[in-house]
Amino acid sequence: MKSKKLIIGNWKMYPASIEEARDKFTKIKKGASVLRNVQTIICPPFIYIGDLKKFITGRRVGLGVQNTWYENEGAYTGEVSPAQISSLGISSVIIGHSERRALGETDEMVNKKVSAALKAGLAVILCVGESERDRDGHYLKHIDNQIRIALRAVSRKDLPKIIIAYEPIWAIGKNALRAASAEDALEVSILIKKTLTSLYKKNADNVRILYGGSVNGKNAQEFLCNSQIDGLLVGRASLNPIVFSEILKSAENIK
Ligand code: PGA
Repeated sequence: MKSKKLIIGNWKMYPASIEEARDKFTKIKKGASVLRNVQTIICPPFIYIGDLKKFITGRRVGLGVQNTWYENEGAYTGEVSPAQISSLGISSVIIGHSERRALGETDEMVNKKVSAALKAGLAVILCVGESERDRDGHYLKHIDNQIRIALRAVSRKDLPKIIIAYEPIWAIGKNALRAASAEDALEVSILIKKTLTSLYKKNADNVRILYGGSVNGKNAQEFLCNSQIDGLLVGRASLNPIVFSEILKSAENIK
């Protein structure tokens, strides 16, 4: 399981129509479904999930969602629950993306969502990352803390279902100054491993670690080879089937 590279596409609130979503998804799926060393997961907006699910055939390409609520049902207008997600046969959920945290999601809410998602049998793609770097390394403490709170009450047996995506906020999206370097990502992947080891001892190895933030066809391989990571979380580039296929191919060809 851990040896396959995991490439996740986060479509955010794109594209604007179901027709475009179908077109992008089927193009991506065509290339991705022949890759033996890569597991591809596309996370479209909730509203497209039911439709895109019809195109899923094998195990190499799957669908995930970008958020969940932490109760299984109730009077929570506009929210979608972990039980509802898993009842559709969807197996993974992104939790704690910086864009959701910016809308008011706290570390405590992230923790509740992680626990509820695991209970419903979902794999969790937990996003962590700093908004800026400082010379004294406070950002490392910040990330360590985000992980410790998010994983409160997560037991060893659930670790194979935890994926941690390091996404430095300063490297995400159109306004990013640049992608982080492979060394920046390496520093944090080592920190994440240390935090996990202090929490779970040798079982820490079961958690997969991803990098996300301005990943493209040109830098994907550099991250995959030099940052001690198990895969990538890709935003903008995952909406361009040609560029995304380049990323997938770089992952396929890594030994
Ligand atoms: P980006 O987004 O690849 O467009 O920088 C990454 C993310 O927000 O997950």
